Amino acid sequence: MARPEPQRGGVRAITSLQNERVKLIRSLEMRKIRRETGLFVAEGASVLVTARDAGWAPRMLVFLAGSAQAGVARELLTWAEAAGAECLEVSPAVLAKLAAKDNPQTMLGVFEQRWAAEPAVERLAPDALWLALEAIRDPGNLGTIIRTADAVAAAGVILVGTSCDPYSHEAVRASMGSIFNVALVRMSAERFLALAAAWKGDVVGTHLSGREDFRAARYRAPTLLAMGSEGPGLSAELAAACSRLVKIPMAGSLDSLNLAVATALMLYEIRKDRLGLA
Ligand SMILES: C[S@@+](CC[C@H](N)C(=O)[O-])C[C@H]1O[C@@H](n2cnc3c(N)ncnc32)[C@H](O)[C@@H]1O
Repeated sequence: MARPEPQRGGVRAITSLQNERVKLIRSLEMRKIRRETGLFVAEGASVLVTARDAGWAPRMLVFLAGSAQAGVARELLTWAEAAGAECLEVSPAVLAKLAAKDNPQTMLGVFEQRWAAEPAVERLAPDALWLALEAIRDPGNLGTIIRTADAVAAAGVILVGTSCDPYSHEAVRASMGSIFNVALVRMSAERFLALAAAWKGDVVGTHLSGREDFRAARYRAPTLLAMGSEGPGLSAELAAACSRLVKIPMAGSLDSLNLAVATALMLYEIRKDRLGLA
């Protein structure tokens, strides 16, 4: 019979790779399991501080044995215990199985995914900026875009159609904690077309066939910015739903910019009058 793992206060010590919690957390690498459980993993003390400051609470907190005696790690353990999270103090061998292979961290949290309601056009802030991504494929791009959306205080990111998972390990890592700050919405292309039709300000599409230079346009707020997929770009039906199509000029011999780079240029251009150094 398996020996029960020792417990200290609300903290359980785990040394076995066969432990059920360890197996569950490892399985969250799979999209299917994230979908079934509604959970995701975020690694690293600074990311967990962002989660705490944004009002999230973990379901589980995992940390390397002996590493949470003082400092931020201790504070995070206190936060997790107060939130009623399962706190698991694990051996180096267990942590090695759970943490990222490159740049492994000594603490990680398991959280419940959050999906926001779609923006209500009649109740939008007058200067709201929403970003829609059509069928985004690359989780690294998605995490980077979520981080940039956070940087310009966008109201949220809408995932249109079949997208990669923002709660995958890669996307969460690339967001560097912004996954906890940015509202995420998912909707079908049909729902997006209805939203675009009801939108009060500009619905800005980005397209290689756009005739307007993205720096010359005056964007009417509230603004809905639509970016196309890495492969095919913005579909004809979404492009047709936009009130204007803009292009980012390119002088080299490339076809198009990386999606995350193009999104960053657009978000900063749309927000340029509202962003300044304090
Ligand atoms: C990698 S591009 C895909 C381009 C796609 N092959 C096409 O023909 O439209 C992904 C997305 O980034 C944006 N993008 C990239 N470069 C752009 C540019 N120079 N001007 C406007 N949008 C651009 C668009 O939203 C585009 O759909």
